[in-house]
Amino acid sequence: MFPFHRPRRLRQNPSIRNLARETSLDRTKLIYPIFINAQLQKESPIEAMPGVCEYGLERAVEEIAFLSEKGLLNFLLFGAPSSKDEQGSEAFDEEGIVQRALRNIKKLVPGSVIFTDVCLCGYTDHGHCGVIKDGKIDNDESVEILAKAALSHARAGADFVAPSDMMDGRVLMIRKKLDENGLSDVGILSYAAKFSSAFYGPFREAAHSAPKFGDRKTHQMDPANRREALKEMQSDIEEGADMIMVKPALSYLDLIREAKDRFLVPVVSYNVSGEYSIVKAAAQKGWIDEKSIRDEILLSIRRAGADIIITYFAKDIFLE
Ligand code: PBG
Repeated sequence: MFPFHRPRRLRQNPSIRNLARETSLDRTKLIYPIFINAQLQKESPIEAMPGVCEYGLERAVEEIAFLSEKGLLNFLLFGAPSSKDEQGSEAFDEEGIVQRALRNIKKLVPGSVIFTDVCLCGYTDHGHCGVIKDGKIDNDESVEILAKAALSHARAGADFVAPSDMMDGRVLMIRKKLDENGLSDVGILSYAAKFSSAFYGPFREAAHSAPKFGDRKTHQMDPANRREALKEMQSDIEEGADMIMVKPALSYLDLIREAKDRFLVPVVSYNVSGEYSIVKAAAQKGWIDEKSIRDEILLSIRRAGADIIITYFAKDIFLE
């Protein structure tokens, strides 16, 4: 009877296309990363990430207050300490930069949702995500320190702690530590499937966290592995993660989809620094249309299954 289908019926005009649209770029689902540096007074632009700055404490809080007035309420905090040591001690110091910022933000911008990155790489003098023993990252000792850092963030007012170190068992130890200290309302967003990726390059400039020797391949995942990523996500959920993350986003859209289909917790994806810089650089050269490409990229991450996206583009989106 009908020799062929006419899908173009649903694309005839903008109103019908709106009705037929399956996914939307919901601004309320975006999280904006903020870099706070204890050695800075004002702010300093990050060269490889046009439009992104690192801030001194006061300026960071002002920036968050300003963006929250524009409607952007979700932030992920990264700290750069005043000094580094072998253990990354400032990571769990009650007077550390992130802890101080948290107390101020929670006073000034009570409606905000604050996530804190929990890792040691920005705090250790060797730049590794854990502590070194006999030339290797010691998993269990690192986890103890990470749990202390998470507890100090939670005490200072973090809504969610986000361990990005990829040590084994850290979600369990952090959950235990928070619960034992009466902080059962503080959630955990685990960087669960975090790959050892060249897309983090520009970030390491921002966080001053490049390793002084070696690489992160003994804890971050091999980009070739899919089943292992599912196992990482499953075990983090079993250990108590409230949300799981796939990171980076664009080369890993398949895993975002699988996470969404398999697991019952919100799926977060991190549209990382290299993915941002590529777009900004090509746009500055006039080779691409930045806004259309940005929106297409973020929409594709949502369509793949991400409930929430961490992205440096969030600020542009809320300010335009
Ligand atoms: C810290 C951390 C990294 C990123 C987030 N947390 C870098 C790394 O693992 O080397 C990357 C974020 C980005 O590239 O935007 N462990």
